[in-house]
Amino acid sequence: MSSNIKLKGRGVNRIIKSKVMLSPLAGVTDIIFRRLVRKWAPNSLLFTEMINATSLKKGYGTQKINQIDLEEGPIGVQIFDNRPYAVSEAAKQAEDSGAFLIDINMGCPVKKIAKKGGGSALIKDRKLAIELVKNVVKAVRVPVTVKTRLGWDSKEENIEDFLFKLQDAGATMITLHGRTRKQGFSGKSDWEMIGRLKKLLEIPVIANGDIKNPDDALNCLKKTNADGVMIGRGILGSPWKIGEIDYALRENKNFKEPNIEEKLYLIIEHLDELVKEKGDHGLLIARKHISWTCKDFKGASNLRNNLVRAVDKNEVKNLINKMIKTLNNKKNILA
Ligand SMILES: Cc1cc2nc3c(=O)[nH]c(=O)nc-3n(C[C@H](O)[C@H](O)[C@H](O)COP(=O)(O)O)c2cc1C
Repeated sequence: MSSNIKLKGRGVNRIIKSKVMLSPLAGVTDIIFRRLVRKWAPNSLLFTEMINATSLKKGYGTQKINQIDLEEGPIGVQIFDNRPYAVSEAAKQAEDSGAFLIDINMGCPVKKIAKKGGGSALIKDRKLAIELVKNVVKAVRVPVTVKTRLGWDSKEENIEDFLFKLQDAGATMITLHGRTRKQGFSGKSDWEMIGRLKKLLEIPVIANGDIKNPDDALNCLKKTNADGVMIGRGILGSPWKIGEIDYALRENKNFKEPNIEEKLYLIIEHLDELVKEKGDHGLLIARKHISWTCKDFKGASNLRNNLVRAVDKNEVKNLINKMIKTLNNKKNILA
């Protein structure tokens, strides 16, 4: 089974050499986090956080696309907005910065965004959605993709028609989160419906929603026959997860999940990078990653409570080094 996904651009075609992708995750998938994910997943397509096109034009959020040309492997840039001109301009800027492809967000349920006509509101305003895709396809040479949901309020909104129109407008891949906007994150991602839609489309379809481990990915691919899977919440606290799933899909049994000590060192590495890049604010961002990673071992909850209260980088490091020492002492006693 080939892992390659072929995408057509207006001037540049792309091949994604892995069936497992990292979701765009606002507040999570910044360059520092992507670098961690990349260690285990050299071929996967990783996405930026969603970027507001109008803000980008005004000079805000440029750090989200700076340096992607220096990153290893393919990086997709996701844009959201309801203004066709702003979206095309932002797409051009992202392409110039080294985007492997441009994705348009048509699934975000956040009220502030949908109210202005962006994100999932585009499922309702199909004319505008098509205009956005057509404009971006004209503006850039790299492939243009769309990430969306199964409907706005219900699954009875003829989403097929929406997807056909996106395909005709030049979208070269569609990611489907198997929920409606109304569902938010409730209920289950409807892999069966994703499978039915996949059958109808000519372009690659990526299944998304509730895929957290290799078994989920295998089951989802079997049920949907999708061209790939996209992982969102499953990556939180486990930056190796995309790699782990990728290994499993290739039937490669050599994947080694980091042990507790390695996970603790990973927290230090992540924190160091965040503080180097963002100063004191880096510690705040690190706190949420720490609480996601520091789990599932004896003493984890105690350590986590202390870590998220630590006032600076050194305190975090001291607490972690102390824990590593304790773990090593226990190992030596048992040996
Ligand atoms: C913290 C967080 C941030 C998200 N940010 C984005 C985003 O920027 N763009 C987007 O298309 N979806 C975003 N999503 C949705 C995910 O990409 C994904 O579609 C959804 O979480 C379902 O997949 P999962 O079950 O694997 O998490 C976000 C989800 C979460 C939990």
